[in-house]
Amino acid sequence: MAATIPVKEFNERRRRLMDRMAPESIAILPAAPERVRNRDVLHPFRQDSDFHYLTGFNEPEAVLVLIPGREHGESVLFCRERNPEKELWDGFLVGQEGAIENYGLDDAFPIADIDDILPGMIEGRSRVYYPLGKDTGFDARVMEWVKMIRSKVKSGAHPPGEFVALEHLLHDLRLYKSPAEIKVMAKAGEISCEAHKRAMKRARKGGYEYNLEAELIHTFMDHGARSTAYPSIVGSGANGCILHYIENSAPLKEGELVLIDAGCEYECYASDITRTFPVSGKFSPEQRALYEIVLSAQYAAIDEIHPGNHWDHPHQAALRVLTQGLIDLGILSGTLEDALEQQSYRPFFMHRTGHWLGMDVHDVGDYKVGDAWRQLEPGMAMTVEPGLYIAPDNMDVDEKWRGIGIRIEDDVVVTKDGCRNLTEAVPKTIPEIEALMAD
Ligand code: GLY
Ligand code: MN
Ligand code: MN
Repeated sequence: MAATIPVKEFNERRRRLMDRMAPESIAILPAAPERVRNRDVLHPFRQDSDFHYLTGFNEPEAVLVLIPGREHGESVLFCRERNPEKELWDGFLVGQEGAIENYGLDDAFPIADIDDILPGMIEGRSRVYYPLGKDTGFDARVMEWVKMIRSKVKSGAHPPGEFVALEHLLHDLRLYKSPAEIKVMAKAGEISCEAHKRAMKRARKGGYEYNLEAELIHTFMDHGARSTAYPSIVGSGANGCILHYIENSAPLKEGELVLIDAGCEYECYASDITRTFPVSGKFSPEQRALYEIVLSAQYAAIDEIHPGNHWDHPHQAALRVLTQGLIDLGILSGTLEDALEQQSYRPFFMHRTGHWLGMDVHDVGDYKVGDAWRQLEPGMAMTVEPGLYIAPDNMDVDEKWRGIGIRIEDDVVVTKDGCRNLTEAVPKTIPEIEALMAD
């Protein structure tokens, strides 16, 4: 079933942002630019996440302006004009009427007129919120608009004096997912689960990593998710130890594991799943021993995700289980407390146990408030992704462990008394994986 964000929710997001803006202020937010791939070919367009969050409007060459209290409308969009000839080549344009009728904006103007109209809207507002420092071209345009107002001070114009990064307010809103957003994220997760299951079933020695990548893309597209949330990682054997491996070009070999870290983007929301499984469908004793540790660490981390705990609790829980597991296998020595204190796990686990998840795979939102870790609250979405990576050239460990890379990653949303796993439909216990692959 399709999941989508209703227009009324975009209106509410703008309302909430305006309610947080200082009196006498204005916010200005540009759409993502089109990017040239080569000559006449563009990269597929992906709207800027902040812009999409506030508008749902999916065209480049657009600027959203929020002017709390403006009599003729508070939410204003500058966008491309309709143009039958251009539309014949490049497809439908929404235009100004469409922006008002279908996107709930109060007022809309042609983007070509922005230099004539926007300075008049900024005039008299003391503070300007915009993505300060994100794009030097846009910084320069904002300053041009301000200069136009400054040139008229003798005629009584009031230029703004304060320029503030919009992200501070906006990204805090984005951190808390609404029920509609959670539905869309669950849909993204559901599609990605299907994709992982398909890849797992079709893994065969003699195939290549890119054959599995193809299975993922097939399932994403087949379910209406036209893009990945990030380039898929399909790492077999020691490639599983390369955290952001995207070459995906090696042959799949009997006796090796494959680590797949992949998720689709659906309606601009990301999913992010990792599973690790044996090419042959059967784990070796060494793979099994390390896998069980990572899986226990993931369960321990998920248990810590509930209101009352903070951002770092799941990470600390995962670290304890991973480190104890490495000691038990003789890969690390000494006591657990010493190993944690000295971070001797770091050659084998060098990343965090998760990140915020939303419209961006590494989503926005502060992890600390001041010096304190952020408290977990209902609606926050994150990944849980412990791993163990035994580098193929690590001469400090017994040869039998070398070149094994394992990560297990799910997407969860904090609920009022715990968390909901959006991606548990892909098998992750050893018996479940072996059963699916034998099927
Ligand atoms: N796929 C990127 C990550 O797991 O953070
Ligand atoms: Mn991932
Ligand atoms: Mn991740």
